[in-house]
Amino acid sequence: MEHRVAVFPGDGIGVEIMEQAKKVIYKVNEITDVKLNLREGLAGGASIDKYGVPLTDENLQLAINSDAVLLGAVGGPKWEPLDYSIRPERALLTLRKELGLFANLRPAKVFPQLVDASTLKAEMVKDIDLIVVRELTGGLYFAQPKGVTTLEDGRRKGVNTLAYTEDEIERIARKAFEIATQRRKKVTNVDKANVLEATELWRDVVVEVHKDFPEVELNHMYVDNCAMQLVRYPAQFDVIVTCNMFGDVLSDEASMLTGSIGMLPSASLGEKGGMYEPAHGSAPDIAGQDKANPIATILSVAMMYRYTFKEGKIADAIEKAVEKTLEEGYRTPDIFTQGTTQVGTGKMGDIIAEKTAEILKNN
Ligand code: IPM
Ligand code: MG
Repeated sequence: MEHRVAVFPGDGIGVEIMEQAKKVIYKVNEITDVKLNLREGLAGGASIDKYGVPLTDENLQLAINSDAVLLGAVGGPKWEPLDYSIRPERALLTLRKELGLFANLRPAKVFPQLVDASTLKAEMVKDIDLIVVRELTGGLYFAQPKGVTTLEDGRRKGVNTLAYTEDEIERIARKAFEIATQRRKKVTNVDKANVLEATELWRDVVVEVHKDFPEVELNHMYVDNCAMQLVRYPAQFDVIVTCNMFGDVLSDEASMLTGSIGMLPSASLGEKGGMYEPAHGSAPDIAGQDKANPIATILSVAMMYRYTFKEGKIADAIEKAVEKTLEEGYRTPDIFTQGTTQVGTGKMGDIIAEKTAEILKNN
């Protein structure tokens, strides 16, 4: 079986972590009959430097004409002075919107080997296994009106709008409940319904959709409380469903519970296809230094095999390879603790690819 995958390494550490993800994919290509045909394109700052825009129509078409998209990271200080409409981040937002990827899944699971890498006490984080289901194509990121205008008195005004239609809420809520049925059957809806009308509607619709999933337990939390609960008692969460903006913030917070944001993969899904990317950014401060943790990207590859290509066994093998690598004590600097072996980005990729191959061969 052959599938087409568009690969956008992007900027900063995106380039070096994508190299590691490719090592894993090549091993899978070699050993199994699931062949991924990787077609590379430019997105973000890399595209701006070459074409003057963060994503050309050709590269957008490349993504549209692929079965899945794999993305590294975009952005960096070099492009920060640019207008929002042509910033590197726009590439990401355009891909999400144009591909209709309304559901962003960000699982935060603690590998037992990493409980000491978390900044929280080991006994608090050891049982964490949650997933943030973030709405990705609406809300504050996209709704109109938006932008900066100049008022009559010459002073400027900046506007973004928090707006959601019932349909947008319904489909993300449904996705969250569906995911919960495969897990511990608990959904926490996160909103700010005590203040924001748009999220009061959000809560109402979530409650309506819940009627179709009586086996799933539903509770509600205001976003400020949720931010606090995530560090107070994170093991209480199974599925967190929330809007685009809150999901952006809470998923960064959740990632740190697992030891490092360098561990957190993500899948963005719509009616078809999917885009897979680490939840972290391009980390320009460590780019090109062989320090970046490639695990979030490699785990995103695992999610791609699982969700888009329905190859659960391959996904399991990759996840197991990551776990074995950690078990044997290999660590990139971000998750290094005393008594473990520090390795660079490239070495980490080699080891995980090798172990993936071993596991697949023994299956
Ligand atoms: C993320 C990132 C993006 C977002 C940025 C880079 C546009 O923070 O994927 O969480 O805000 O969605
Ligand atoms: Mg973010």
